[in-house]
Amino acid sequence: MNIATNRLRPLTGAGRRLFIETYGCQMNAGDTEIVVSIMQREGYVYTERIDEADVILINTCSIRDNAEQRIWGRLSEMRRLRRERPGLIVGVIGCMAERLREQLTEGDRGVDVVAGPDAYRDLPRLVRSAEAGAKGVNVLLSQEETYAEIAPVRLDRNGVCAFVSIMRGCNNFCSYCVVPYTRGVERSRDPETIVAEVETLFANGYREVTLLGQNVNSYRFGEVDFPELLRRTASVSPQLRVRFATSHPKDMSDRLLETMASMPNICRAIHLPAQSGASTMLRRMNRKYDREWYLGRIAAIRRYMPDCAITTDLIAGFSGETAEEHEATLSLMREVGYESAFMFKYSERPGTFAQRHMPDDVPDAVKSARLTEIIALQGELSLASNRRDVGREFEVLAESVSHKRDDQLAGRTSQNKVVVFDRRDWRPGDYVRVRITGCTPVTLIGEPIDNR
Ligand code: SAH
Ligand code: SF4
Ligand code: F3S
Repeated sequence: MNIATNRLRPLTGAGRRLFIETYGCQMNAGDTEIVVSIMQREGYVYTERIDEADVILINTCSIRDNAEQRIWGRLSEMRRLRRERPGLIVGVIGCMAERLREQLTEGDRGVDVVAGPDAYRDLPRLVRSAEAGAKGVNVLLSQEETYAEIAPVRLDRNGVCAFVSIMRGCNNFCSYCVVPYTRGVERSRDPETIVAEVETLFANGYREVTLLGQNVNSYRFGEVDFPELLRRTASVSPQLRVRFATSHPKDMSDRLLETMASMPNICRAIHLPAQSGASTMLRRMNRKYDREWYLGRIAAIRRYMPDCAITTDLIAGFSGETAEEHEATLSLMREVGYESAFMFKYSERPGTFAQRHMPDDVPDAVKSARLTEIIALQGELSLASNRRDVGREFEVLAESVSHKRDDQLAGRTSQNKVVVFDRRDWRPGDYVRVRITGCTPVTLIGEPIDNR
């Protein structure tokens, strides 16, 4: 469409105010920024105040039952808001919209619009039809959609770190996981649009990008695979830090590690979800690697980058988990010595292979007790890791004024650990050499070495 006809066409939004509440993973956070971009083109104005919004979208997550329960709770509050403000449009987008389209639109749930993760270009039309009194629903998943050319509207306030989505969907079908059903098949985004987006971010003052996908190691677009994409992104500037998430252990290649090791601005941090330490359990989870393979990948990381931080995800109490399998998870944690971990209690998800074929048979009290043990052990490992850093020097990228004290800055090391230090004249976006003088289990306390 040329500019002239574009001007003649009335914009659907025309100054109406849009508010979005985001749940779930970084992919959802990235999608919210794409949705804002799509809606702004139609004249909507983004607001951070829910009380002045004409359209409220809730970007939802289905990964565990408690994630969905929270959103049902929010929706009942929305029904109250709608009674107070006639004409208010409420939409549910994201993974739960995909999974529960029928339940969301039946009866009077107070939901006008339902849009799945591949239907965001259609949102202006869906909202318009809701305004005209019909429900707007589109949950079609796509084989191609990557929103490649849409420039996300950055909502993060620090202006230093940004997430860049490089692929969508997932083909792995881990037996417990709902993501392949809510996000559809895996597809990679054109690398030229990725590098262009990263260049723009750098020119606008951003100093760190995180490349996002459910399994970035399987990125491929024509000849460009993930190590090559990483190299191109990190080549934008040595002053730009590059991170990525998430790596699936089955696809983590030596070439990736070689590429990381050869470019100091690719951060020394790998998130490598293990899920369990027991090979028997990993088979039931359909993870396609065993404990030995996983430990082999850890050894390779240490070989290429001895200073690389390793973090993980773990699930307690998946179908049939024995006491020995749980012990194997604890022993894996000790053997690797993770810097930190996301730890979850298994939550059965409707429609997954596990829900259809594997009983959710670990009693809730046992799941909880195992999760508590895992969390306690990780607490010890994180503290030990932080204590090892005391006395060392790191280059810290300053991100924001510390929320506890405004004479301090918070930033992160290449290993992705948070450091708090005296602000002096430094600003977010500066690289500061810092000596670590103390720590808590979650934060390092530092002292700038250079003077300013
Ligand atoms: N694609 C990423 C993770 C996506 S979901 C990967 O494969 O590593 C984030 C984490 O949620 C998973 O790593 C897993 O630990 C957890 N998770 C997924 N499904 C779950 C379920 N049904 N119950 C509990 N935790 C789950
Ligand atoms: Fe879920 Fe497995 Fe895909 Fe991760 S790799 S999103 S855990 S199916
Ligand atoms: Fe949740 Fe969907 Fe992300 S289920 S974790 S928002 S991919």
